[in-house]
Order: sequence, then structure tokens, then C-alpha cells
Amino acid sequence: MARLRTIHRCTDCGAGSPRWAGRCPACGEWNTLVEEVEQASGSRVGAVATARPPATPVLLADVAADASTPLPSGLPELDRVLGGGFVPGSATLIGGEPGIGKSTLLLQAAAAMARRGARCLLVCAEESPAQVRLRAQRLDALVPGLWLVGENSMPAILAAAGHVSPDVVVIDSIQTVWDPELESPPGSVAQVKHCAHQLVTAAKAGGPAVVMVGHVTKEGTLAGPRVLEHVVDTVLSFEGDRHHAIRLLRAAKHRFGPTGELGLFEMTGSGLEEVADPAGLFLADRQPGTCGSVVFPAMEGYRPLLVEVQALVVHTPGPSPRRSVSGFEAGRLSLLLAVLDRRVGLSLAGHEVYVSVVGGVRVADPGADLAVCLALASAFTRRPVLDDLVVLGEVGLGGEVRQVAQTPARLAEAARLGFRRALIPARAPGSEALSVRRIATLFDALERDLGPATAPPKLRLVAGAGRSEPEPDC
Ligand code: TYD
Ligand code: MG
Repeated sequence: MARLRTIHRCTDCGAGSPRWAGRCPACGEWNTLVEEVEQASGSRVGAVATARPPATPVLLADVAADASTPLPSGLPELDRVLGGGFVPGSATLIGGEPGIGKSTLLLQAAAAMARRGARCLLVCAEESPAQVRLRAQRLDALVPGLWLVGENSMPAILAAAGHVSPDVVVIDSIQTVWDPELESPPGSVAQVKHCAHQLVTAAKAGGPAVVMVGHVTKEGTLAGPRVLEHVVDTVLSFEGDRHHAIRLLRAAKHRFGPTGELGLFEMTGSGLEEVADPAGLFLADRQPGTCGSVVFPAMEGYRPLLVEVQALVVHTPGPSPRRSVSGFEAGRLSLLLAVLDRRVGLSLAGHEVYVSVVGGVRVADPGADLAVCLALASAFTRRPVLDDLVVLGEVGLGGEVRQVAQTPARLAEAARLGFRRALIPARAPGSEALSVRRIATLFDALERDLGPATAPPKLRLVAGAGRSEPEPDC
């Protein structure tokens, strides 16, 4: 019997500490240390690691090339993100908020792969097989070659995999799987790490492609140890606003290809449908002429995507006015507010500021800076920007507007969707299809690219109807 010890483990980075502390000594996160009981030495984790004979060094040029080709998932949007499909013997982790559609996505992918002749095993560690069958019926996923096991015990899962010899194993979810040989309780950091390690080891030893579902915390990071992200080859995140149908799939890490690609899906009554051409998808509800609304041609991987940036600025007498941001980085907004204040003389102190990228899209591209600044200035001055204008450029601390990558592709997509004007950095390559105005500083943009000021709409009571409606205006 192995010796047991109590350890305080960080749920974020997985580091162990003999004593409890309010802050993890390894990663610096607050309130992440939890008490766990685990084996002190000679545990199976260690045994797995030391069971192999030591490898002999060889010349890099003599290493045999890995001939394994990715197995297409059958869902082109998923394959776009994966760069072709699931690589045999690889491990993939897919994270996302509860209810976003991870189980649905993987069930549809497994059914599509099984339909093309692959053997797929779904390990349902959360839902009952009957529940999964019900969903499969709805999604038309009852296909031969798709196996299911309702298990959360690691030895039973490995036995099931041995029985089916699958090409792909889906573990839903890794946080609910546990190994009874390890003393730590199910869901603990040690269990999650240990089970993920075992699955990755099995995959690497010529086994199937393993796909693990991982829950995310309310902050949006993968729950459990971040070390999970290091042991797998690919980390995918499935995002979107649960109240909207659009779902976005991105690769945060991918050992077999680029990470910039975006997969787009729409959640419908019959599962996830792929959105192959997102043209105008995020602009459908845009109200032309609204103050604080600016269109930004974003680039997601190789695909341009036009999104609406909205800003709202409200005067408040309070000492520390609220700054609320959705789909854009809060720190970046603070920086832009500081630049607007110092370089343009537009101070929003004493105002609540709301910035939102519409449709659940998260823009990390610095090329959105100029659009955000213009939206803020437009909201503040109540001067709308032109309806057929797209805005692109990174804003530096000096108030200068800097170039961003892939400007021609972004402008071409904007032109395709009917936009006629573009505001771009001074030295960026232009486009024949649009009327381009180049600007060197944020000041130039704000001085010339806002329309005449409009007054906010006022509610007027519709006579007799007992309801109010806004007067058509800003
Ligand atoms: P699910 O895949 O269970 O999410 P996760 O595994 O990420 O927790 O999806 C759950 C949500 O998706 C649920 O709110 C219902 C919705 N849904 C549909 O709208 N249509 C469908 O066909 C299915 C299967 C689910
Ligand atoms: Mg699920």
C-alpha cells in the first residue's frame, strides 16, 4: 500500500504546496489551493513514467517522418480548425462553458466519422447512455461504427477501448473520469492530471486519437490544472453567447498546424450547423446611422469576418465610472481611453463606458483599436460614422495609427459585402474596390470621419395606444 500524504494543490496550474496559502506560490493565482490526499511515492503515475526503457539519441535527419495523416472529422468547420482532422495517436482537449454544445459537436463529429467507416468510441462519464441515445436520435447520429460506454472509471475505459479498438475515443468529460487506484477523490487535480496522462500515454503508444472534453471556469479558463494544456497536442475552445445561436471554435494550441483558424457553427433545433460563408453574419441586426457603431473587418485565420463594434458613453456623477467590455480586452480599452485622453483631448472621465463586439465574437486583433476609438468618439459626440465605412488600424501610445496584417483581404471582403469606404493606416496597402482614406494619427480620424452631431432619441407617447416609441433620430 502506497504512503498517503496531504497536499495543497493549485486548481489552476497544478503545482503542489505542503501548506495552504491564499495565493498559489507557483502561478500567483488567488484562492486556487485545495487540499488533496495523494500517494507520496511509487504511485502509478510515476510507474507509468519510468516503465519505458531510456530512449537512445539519434540524428534528427535519421528520424523517420511521421506518416500518419489526419482523420477528417466529417465536419468541414472542425477540420478547418484542426488543419485536416484528428491525427491518429494525438490528444485533443476541447473546452467551453456548460451548455455551449461540446457534447453535441463531438457526437456529430463521431457520427460523421463513423459514417465514413471509422470506429469511434464515446465515453459518457457525465450523461447516461440513454440520454446520449436520445440526443443521437435527434441529430440523426445513430450510425454503425459508433460505440458508447457509460463509464467514469479509468481502468474500465481503457478496457472498453481495448474491446472496441477505436480510431477515435471521445471522453466527455475528463473532469468526471477517475482512477480508483489513486486515493484522491474524483474531480481532484491529481485525478484529472493522472487520467489525462494515462489517456495521452495510451494514444501515443499507437492508440486512437483521444478527444477530451474539459469544463471551463467562470473566468473562461479550463478548469483543473493548466498542465492539461501541456500534455495534449491540441487545445480547442468552443465559444459563443449561450443566448445566441452562433458558436465559434478556435485552436489555442495545435501541434499539427496553425492556430489562427476559426470554425463557425450555428446551434439549431437539429444540432450544430456549419456556417461556411459568414458574410454579413454579424452585421444582420446593425442599425445604420447609430452613434457609436463602427464596422471592423476582422481576420480570423485566413477568413475575413466583418464585425460591428458598439460603444455607449453615459455621463455619471459617480467617482469611479463603470467600464464594461464584451468581446474586447478590458486592459486594451483602458489603454485606448488613455490615448484618447492624452493624444486627442477626448476625456471620458466622468462617463460610464460600454464597449461591445456584437454577436459573441471575441476580438483579440489589435487592428480593432481604431474602430473602438472611433466608436467611443462617435458615441460621445453623438456623431455617427458613415454607414458604408469600415475602419482598420492599431493605435499606438503616441496616438499614431499602425498597420495591421492582411489589409487587402479584409478590404476585399468589405467591398464584397457592399462597403464603399475604408479608413486605414497611412502606409497600409489599399484596395481598388473601395474608396480608401489613409490616416497617420488617431486625431486625423476623429477630426474628419464623424458625421454631423445628432440628438439622442426621445420617447414620445403614441396617442391612445398607451405605449411609447422613440422618435427616429440617432
Ligand atoms: P451540449 O452539447 O449538451 O453542451 P455541453 O456539452 O457544452 O454542455 O448542448 C446543450 C445545449 O445545446 C442545450 O442548451 C440545448 C442545445 N441544443 C440545441 O439547441 N439543439 C440541439 O439539437 C441539441 C442537441 C442541443
Ligand atoms: Mg456535455
